[in-house]
Amino acid sequence: MIVIGSDHGGYRLKEVLKAHLTSQNISFLDVGCTGEACDYPDIAAKAVQKILDGTCSEGILCCGTGIGISIAANRYPGIRAAVVSDPLAATLTKQHNNANILCMGGRMIGEEMGKACVDAWLHASFAGGRHAIRIDKLEKERTL
Ligand code: RB5
Repeated sequence: MIVIGSDHGGYRLKEVLKAHLTSQNISFLDVGCTGEACDYPDIAAKAVQKILDGTCSEGILCCGTGIGISIAANRYPGIRAAVVSDPLAATLTKQHNNANILCMGGRMIGEEMGKACVDAWLHASFAGGRHAIRIDKLEKERTL
């Protein structure tokens, strides 16, 4: 199950991506918004909770730029949220960073690019090996 969410800036892209997931029979859980003005940290928190409690395995988050909502999601241990705007970055952030949240900017990329990013990320696999060592460091080395 994929958790999906957005603020108002990412709402239209989120709706496009929901339809895209539905067309591929991929289940999702929408944590909002429904188009109203809202604060991206609140949406990020709702999505992160679904991943950390095991309800969902990964997530897709959109805001105007994709940046604010990624910053918000990355404040939680265990979350690796990556902002992407092209399918190569989407593939690599799964292969190298094992990104468990894909973020995109609804005011930055078009619908087709958003769908292509989601497809690339969903179809890629974490490469492990040296990348796993680096991800472990992300979790362990949190103080200077
Ligand atoms: C909302 O206007 C906008 O600031 C937000 O969607 C996002 O782009 C922030 O990073």
